[in-house]
Amino acid sequence: MSLASPKVVNVKDLRRLARARLPDAVFDYLDGGADDEVTLKDSERAFREVLFKPRFAVATPACELSVTVLGQKLDLPFLLAPIGYSRLMHPRGELAASAAAGRHGTAYILSTMSGHTIENVKAQSPGPTFYQLYLAGGRGAAEAAIARAKKAGYKALFVTIDTPVAGNREKDFRNGMKALMGPNPFAKLPYLPNILAHPRWLAGFIADGMTRPFPNIVVPGSGPLAAVDVAAALESAQVSWTDLKWIREIWDGPIVMKGVMTADDARRAVDEGAQGIVVSSHAGRQLDGVAAPLRVLPGIVEAVGNRTEVLFDGGIRRGADMVRAMALGAKAVLLGRGYAYGMAAAGDAGIERAIEIFRADIVRTLKLLGCARIADVSADHVALRPGFRVD
Ligand SMILES: Cc1cc2nc3c(=O)[nH]c(=O)nc-3n(C[C@H](O)[C@H](O)[C@H](O)COP(=O)(O)O)c2cc1C
Repeated sequence: MSLASPKVVNVKDLRRLARARLPDAVFDYLDGGADDEVTLKDSERAFREVLFKPRFAVATPACELSVTVLGQKLDLPFLLAPIGYSRLMHPRGELAASAAAGRHGTAYILSTMSGHTIENVKAQSPGPTFYQLYLAGGRGAAEAAIARAKKAGYKALFVTIDTPVAGNREKDFRNGMKALMGPNPFAKLPYLPNILAHPRWLAGFIADGMTRPFPNIVVPGSGPLAAVDVAAALESAQVSWTDLKWIREIWDGPIVMKGVMTADDARRAVDEGAQGIVVSSHAGRQLDGVAAPLRVLPGIVEAVGNRTEVLFDGGIRRGADMVRAMALGAKAVLLGRGYAYGMAAAGDAGIERAIEIFRADIVRTLKLLGCARIADVSADHVALRPGFRVD
């Protein structure tokens, strides 16, 4: 399979290749959202309501893409977001994502729901690596993971707050994601024809040892949490503001609250000592019917942008979308499916192609806007269609 241009020119092409390689259960886990996918669809659509206002006849021979996030200088204005079960999509999963981020001078955020160890993932990248925390397995498991992350050199904790329970991802029920992750071989039988129809994925899955326990959710006294589907894993993962105080006691680095969707929560996160927030709807996979994150971004930036670092994710499918989010005040953005489609399609090479596509998009967009530096992009470069904003 060739990932070179002109066969793979955008993220839709990588999505198409991912769909061809993965069984339905895994593709829909990656691609799908909660309930009727209203938020998921609107997250992409909202970008179309942010129109550019270019300044032409400005020479921009080179473009400076670097940004500083949580004290770390990044060569790209996007970080690779935490994607649970990456190893199920490709055996190299989190290792490939971490290595790609390191090669490109940006940061990777490792999910608690990783299939590779905290230590091995960090070893792939000399650059900054951050750890995303769920309380899956309880405080004891979280404390052990935080200690390992600290020792391995992770620079910040991203605490995800939008998962008090798993969202209702109906495709996961229908396609057998639960059966695939569970120990009962008979439960997998109805899904076997579809799995067998994806032999490249299946060969990799078998060679990789199939389902295995979560190596970073180690419950004191009982060992690594057995492989389960996401709904079961998130059952004990709920985080509250009280937990944040406890996390602060055992982690002295920066803490970022991921999943902030209102100015009230943003103010609370800052008041409770968070160094950053991610405006995010968890890719439309949790509470369906919340606004597209892009619509709430301007109000949240107005509320706390001068007191904390406001990051953004959700619905980004082009580099131009990243520029739009930064014009609306995001300091940098997180890329989720945009790189995960590449990872699922072709491992390291797929992530590499995704990053190349996004980088080229950003540079082209900046030149067309008349901006020499991503840091120069501002609200003056965009206009919002009436009714865009949600406060
Ligand atoms: C398949 C998948 C798994 C995810 N797993 C996690 C996770 O384990 N922890 C977390 O905080 N966010 C998780 N997210 C959310 C992403 O970190 C990010 O917020 C989201 O993907 C951004 O939206 P986008 O996919 O439209 O770019 C996941 C998203 C997807 C698509």
